[in-house]
Amino acid sequence: MRIYSTRKLPEKHIQSIIHNIDGVEVEMWPYEDKPISREELVKQVEHADGLITMLSDSIDEEILAKGTKLKVVANLAVGFDNINLEAARKHQVVVCNTPDVLTETTADLTFGLLMATARRFGEAISYIKNDQWNSWSPYLLAGQDIHHKTIGIFGMGAIGEAVARRARGFSMNVLYHNRTRKEEAEKSLPAQYVSLNDLAEQSDFVVSLAPLTNDTKNTFNKEFFQKMKSTAIFVNAGRGPVMNEADLYDALTTGKIAGAGLDVFEKEPIGANHPLVGLPNVVAIPHIGSASIETRTAMIQLCFENVLQVLQGKEAKTPVKR
Ligand code: GLV
Ligand code: GLV
Repeated sequence: MRIYSTRKLPEKHIQSIIHNIDGVEVEMWPYEDKPISREELVKQVEHADGLITMLSDSIDEEILAKGTKLKVVANLAVGFDNINLEAARKHQVVVCNTPDVLTETTADLTFGLLMATARRFGEAISYIKNDQWNSWSPYLLAGQDIHHKTIGIFGMGAIGEAVARRARGFSMNVLYHNRTRKEEAEKSLPAQYVSLNDLAEQSDFVVSLAPLTNDTKNTFNKEFFQKMKSTAIFVNAGRGPVMNEADLYDALTTGKIAGAGLDVFEKEPIGANHPLVGLPNVVAIPHIGSASIETRTAMIQLCFENVLQVLQGKEAKTPVKR
């Protein structure tokens, strides 16, 4: 049986996972920092029983149809908007993601991004690098307070709850909006469920962790930003297309909101001349939410476990729930 990974992953982890399983071979796209070409993916999927994919690979009808031996796709991410689930069901391919193992790590990054944006780390780091620090002054790089403020979380899944716990540690008031109510979290945190409108109007920090779906796409648009406080900060550590970047740019440049911390973008990767990157009140980082060495290793391990379970005729550990 052949497992193909669309990105080069560390051999030593892979060997330790598959060493005692007969008849399984693993092949990989040879580059760690360069995505597989479409052409190569189409070619490789024809011979694969299991596929390990990245969030930057589009696993669509064409790919799934070409994979005549394919039984399982394990995405190295908790999100799976890059995979056509309908087509996977039609072709009887099990789709897996990596929930839980990345929850706390992604919450750390999200809260760090909130803090970096509120306290203007981006500008502050450049300030010294550009040799601008000539004196201490009372309002030098003065930002927004975080403690005792109101955070509004859009997308209250496991990561949303983990961010909310961090926010409670900073004595923040926690609001959230989600497809379904989280009554246990409401009591234990505590957190308050609000409408999207109230989330916009009452939050000092709006934090998006929602997956990309037809329902969430373009949620953060002109209309939403207009309702936010002019001192408020928008943070997106979920998926880029949940926000409208042109509308966000306008909101940031016309003073409708105070700043934005972004780990994700509409179309990734972005370059240095992306309009949002040029704004002083934006902290932009390259989709690194779950990127700790421990967590990426756990995610890779979970992907292989999922693939092996399915190829051995067992239930996957973390199949995507439809
Ligand atoms: C990262 O964005 C993920 O979905 O895991
Ligand atoms: C700042 O460093 C202070 O002493 O207030």
